[in-house]
Amino acid sequence: MPVSIHDLRAYKERRERFVMLTAYDHPTAQVLDEAGIPVLLVGDSLAQVVLGYDSTIPVTMDEMLHHCRAVARGARNALIVGDMPFMSYQASLEDGLRNAGRFLKEGGAHSVKIEGPQLDLASALSERGIPVMGHLGLTPQSVHLFGGYKVQGRSEEQADRIKAWSKELEEAGAFALVLECVPAALAEQITASLSIPTIGIGAGPGCDAQVLVIHDLVGLTPGPAPKFVKRYADVRGQIAEAAKSFAADVSAGAYPDDEHSYS
Ligand code: KIV
Repeated sequence: MPVSIHDLRAYKERRERFVMLTAYDHPTAQVLDEAGIPVLLVGDSLAQVVLGYDSTIPVTMDEMLHHCRAVARGARNALIVGDMPFMSYQASLEDGLRNAGRFLKEGGAHSVKIEGPQLDLASALSERGIPVMGHLGLTPQSVHLFGGYKVQGRSEEQADRIKAWSKELEEAGAFALVLECVPAALAEQITASLSIPTIGIGAGPGCDAQVLVIHDLVGLTPGPAPKFVKRYADVRGQIAEAAKSFAADVSAGAYPDDEHSYS
């Protein structure tokens, strides 16, 4: 049986930490699924890490669905979460319901993620059988409101607001909650106060689960990484080395050799 939202709740009850990773294409979804990663997020970070936009704001529903379908075709076991892009749910409840439905009907996702305290939408989705993951703290679709990618919840007022919204999202039916770039102590308090799992990114070790963007994890993202990213590989370097070795072999006449030619 593929991983379900109930399995995530059971992980929390057993105090078993788990992970979610982003995936945007078929081969990556296959690799991560075969590696036993239980939750794959087709994140709107697609905009930056794959499509070359400078924020998540421009990515469209059609672009998200195109990539979500590829991930769904690659994953047999993982729970797939489709990330609702900017303005696919903010203008009206009807937009939110229709676009969430598209993720399940056309994208092959099992659930959706929304940013911010969208309480009416969270309860409307869960009432209609669409599992919804919340996302609080540094919600990148609000980057212009925040004035940059800044840690959220450092002041008492902000922290109280995030705590209250967390509880309200749980009550509205969210099955899990991403906490992004909030102080570790705040994430720990929220985690202890909820029965749904929290999934941290830049939120310290006190969450029930952790998520990273796959391109950050494997070292495919250029430039310096944010403080919370741990790179587990240097795939960017390896691709560059492989490409340079290929070019050098061709220019030296060493490739293709007999082994790689047909008689
Ligand atoms: O789009 C994304 O990759 C995300 C994660 C950072 C949680 O929302």
